[in-house]
Amino acid sequence: MRATSAGGVSGVVAPPDADVPGDTVQRLVVAGLHKSFGTRSVLKDVSLSVGPGELVAVLGPSGAGKTTLFRCAAALLSPDKGTVSVAGARLADLRGGTRRLARRRVAVIFQQYNLVRRLSALQNVLAGRLGYVPAWRGWLRRFTREDTIFALECLERVGMLEYADQRADTLSGGQQQRVAIARALAQRPVVILADEPVSSLDPRSSESILELLRAIAHADGVAVVCNLHQVHLACEYADRLIGLAQGRIVIDIPAALVDAAAVARIYPQAEITDTQV
Ligand SMILES: Nc1ncnc2c1ncn2[C@@H]1O[C@H](COP(=O)(O)OP(=O)(O)OP(=O)(O)O)[C@@H](O)[C@H]1O
Ligand SMILES: [Mg+2]
Repeated sequence: MRATSAGGVSGVVAPPDADVPGDTVQRLVVAGLHKSFGTRSVLKDVSLSVGPGELVAVLGPSGAGKTTLFRCAAALLSPDKGTVSVAGARLADLRGGTRRLARRRVAVIFQQYNLVRRLSALQNVLAGRLGYVPAWRGWLRRFTREDTIFALECLERVGMLEYADQRADTLSGGQQQRVAIARALAQRPVVILADEPVSSLDPRSSESILELLRAIAHADGVAVVCNLHQVHLACEYADRLIGLAQGRIVIDIPAALVDAAAVARIYPQAEITDTQV
């Protein structure tokens, strides 16, 4: 874990099981992915790769296949063809404990936060450590002192330490998303997949969540892939933009190079205004 202070967010102290890959290893590689549901072909030969410290935004019209791509990348869905590799290891080749190890290094953040409503912020973040503790400890919610301190550090990092004991369902949407990010950090991920993380938030909260995700990518060397609907936010916060249209990648370029022509390739039917780019 790189412990710099990019974006004002410093790296947290990791427990000793640090098996972080070297900086030259791509964190996420998707190669030749195909996925159909019945006769509908949703992903068609999708390939992408995300390196350490990169925040990549995936853009595309509704139904383009973004969530399907995320679910395949998170191993929540099996592709019909193609491979997903995390930190150099092909998920399909891994079995048992090694597969679980690779999967826990991919953290997923959703639009609706997916916190356990009746549990506190801290207990939700500790859930991010479940892949690291023996099952019986998880069932009994008996986490080590080290895990608890780490979870508190993750909450502090997202600015939520003072809410550690508050029930998740009494937090605001932006606060819940911060707790979800802290839970992702507690997994000590090499990849964070965020599927529309700001779609339920107001503009100010959206910006602060994206700022946080960018700081985590840049400070920790995590590969963050973020599915967004707002082109202007993608251009402002992402290092690179990937456009998905009808299940195919139509652009994959640095955010600084995005122009109206690039946006028109992603949204061919839409009228693009100056404020969107
Ligand atoms: N489990 C499923 N069974 C059948 N069809 C599915 C399933 N999951 C997704 N699809 C179909 O796959 C296509 C792509 O869906 P997906 O959710 O990946 O789109 P998306 O790009 O995430 O859209 P949005 O921006 O609206 O979230 C859609 O036509 C959808 O109906
Ligand atoms: Mg979706």
